[in-house]
Amino acid sequence: MSRNILPVLITTTLFHSAGFVEAQQKTANYDEAKIAPYTLPDLLKTSDGKAVKAADEWTKLRRPEVLALFEQHVFGRTPAPATWGKVEFKVTQVKKDALGGKATRKFIHISLPEHPAWQGMDVMLYTPNGLGKPAPCFVGPSFGGNHAVSLEKDVPLSTRWMRPNKEKSIIDNRATEASRGNEASRWPLEMIIDQGFAVATYYYGDIEPDHADGWKEGLRAVLSKDGASTEWKDGQWGAIGAWAWGLSRIADYLETDADVNAKQLAVIGHSRLGKTSLWAGAQDTRFGVVISNNSGEGGAALMRRNIGETTAIITKAFPHWFTRTYTSYAGNESACPIDKHMLIALAAPRPVYIASAVEDTWADPKGEFLSGLHAEPAFALFGKKGYGVTAQPAIDSPVGDAIAYHIRTGKHDVTDYDWTQYLKFAKRHLVK
Ligand code: GCU
Repeated sequence: MSRNILPVLITTTLFHSAGFVEAQQKTANYDEAKIAPYTLPDLLKTSDGKAVKAADEWTKLRRPEVLALFEQHVFGRTPAPATWGKVEFKVTQVKKDALGGKATRKFIHISLPEHPAWQGMDVMLYTPNGLGKPAPCFVGPSFGGNHAVSLEKDVPLSTRWMRPNKEKSIIDNRATEASRGNEASRWPLEMIIDQGFAVATYYYGDIEPDHADGWKEGLRAVLSKDGASTEWKDGQWGAIGAWAWGLSRIADYLETDADVNAKQLAVIGHSRLGKTSLWAGAQDTRFGVVISNNSGEGGAALMRRNIGETTAIITKAFPHWFTRTYTSYAGNESACPIDKHMLIALAAPRPVYIASAVEDTWADPKGEFLSGLHAEPAFALFGKKGYGVTAQPAIDSPVGDAIAYHIRTGKHDVTDYDWTQYLKFAKRHLVK
């Protein structure tokens, strides 16, 4: 395929997926009574039928099995470290009086010296000034780039490909000056810093552009042996796996930064990036707290509940997010050996926070709640308590201990209300 016709094809694919999702949102089932009866796969039974009764049986036998099932059937396998080799960190800027003097802001370029064809990722890290000790840190990807997360005008504008979005001033797939701060309401930096936390973020498109052909321009092509001619096979990683890989490379960097306590990391993501944070947290135990904000289908929502977005819809609109095998469960969810309670359980005993929004029916708030509820037996093996309730709580009434949940007023978004709960949760479970 010649380079100059590629953009035309990409645009066509995107318009198709955006229009397709919108149409599906109007016609999807939103009626609980129409969900066909289903049985969830048994969380605490090994593949050869052995009941898992103790924490070490979970850790040694069942957890590795469940992780392998998610690799094989949902997200694909993350390549082994030898595939990418050395990881290089370059601190490109330090500003000691960021956010009016409250914070130090650093930019860190992360690259793979053995794979220079990948352009690398640019991490933005804010750490609180005057804390007197290394800070606990939230780590999460952004939709719009560092300049969209921060309101500080001296943050470099991302030059990477972005999904079309006139409202957010993305023109010809690129950020413009007007797109500065367009994600700031989802990242209340001062509030996080005031509570003594650091925050590290990167633009998910640094890893690969978010469209069906995006892998050709990103890390997955660079790391695959047959490069751009790869036909993705069952079990090979999709874009969510690659974006989650980026979060783990931030953790690698944070282990080298004296301003951060790398033993106190919380991974966080919203929507498709909430699916990403759940998968990053499942694989990388350095994330001591895992947060899913409105992650929905493919994230926290149980896939067997056919309400709102379904496996058929998500794998048609966003086939590149998952490993190829996942598409085979469209309309055939009962054949899939996992459901999403098992994704939550992969964090055990590390605490997980699942958040829904009442107007976000597309993401199936009740299905998000239920995955946490049905993950409780894995946490119980470690003596950890879950929700403490069995029915979805009232709006704006958080519940839970090592698994926590709320459904907030309003729409699909990340708000200060959500962050207030996450900060409390991280304080309770990470900082102690
Ligand atoms: C679409 C998609 C969801 C996804 C969301 C987002 O609505 O269907 O699965 O979570 O985009 O990432 O904003």
